Amino acid sequence: MKPLIIANWKMNPTTTKEAKKFFGDFKKELKNIKNAEVVICPPFVYLATSDKRQATRIKLGGQDCFWEAKGAYTGEISPQILKDLGCQYVILGHSERRKYLGETNEMINKKIKTALKNRLRPILCVGETLEERKKGKTNQVIQRQLTKSLQNIQYPVSSIEDLTIAYEPIWAIRTGNPCLPQDAKEVGLFIRKILSKILGKKISESCRIIYGGSVNSKNAADYIKKAEMNGLLVGGASLSAKEFGRIVRSIL
Ligand code: PGA
Repeated sequence: MKPLIIANWKMNPTTTKEAKKFFGDFKKELKNIKNAEVVICPPFVYLATSDKRQATRIKLGGQDCFWEAKGAYTGEISPQILKDLGCQYVILGHSERRKYLGETNEMINKKIKTALKNRLRPILCVGETLEERKKGKTNQVIQRQLTKSLQNIQYPVSSIEDLTIAYEPIWAIRTGNPCLPQDAKEVGLFIRKILSKILGKKISESCRIIYGGSVNSKNAADYIKKAEMNGLLVGGASLSAKEFGRIVRSIL
């Protein structure tokens, strides 16, 4: 399994000109990378500004998608639209969407089903708040998020292998306070155990489990080597092509 390193630009940058420069800088910075799968998830509108030829090495992903294919759903983007723009992946259930837009596990479940049906690879984000961790409820929260989000998924067998789970403790996102690698490892093992119950052993073993939350070039390798994660979801540090390049090189 090649490590999957995802750049989540969130709501950045704020001009097309900057977005084009970002894409160009990333392309230069990552041109010799072969041992990792790199995916950029820009705001939707910039997907079209990425030169399709670049997408061969650097893949594209959406930061969200809706659960219907098309129609009267103002403001939404469907998996088909994302695929047409060259996306292979889609982040679903990010904690910022759960917090600011009220996304529930039930909504995320519908989105995962539609994404899989359209052969768009979902990256399902799960993670606990600081309060939940302090109360020792981490596993309980993660189990609920996984069970509800992956309920009754119907999929072509070949595509479920493309499901990725991102462990993103909410208290570690954008705080500069990353999860200790040994703690991330414990949660990663727990996620694999729950996946095995939900999807069966064989499929669960083929899913990637990645870490996100204050990843930078100094701590990235620890999550791959010590925490045995299959990749990283990088937010803030992915807004610099140089720092993102260092992250990708550090894990190889
Ligand atoms: P961060 O964000 O790297 O800025 O902590 C990670 C994420 O939200 O995916």
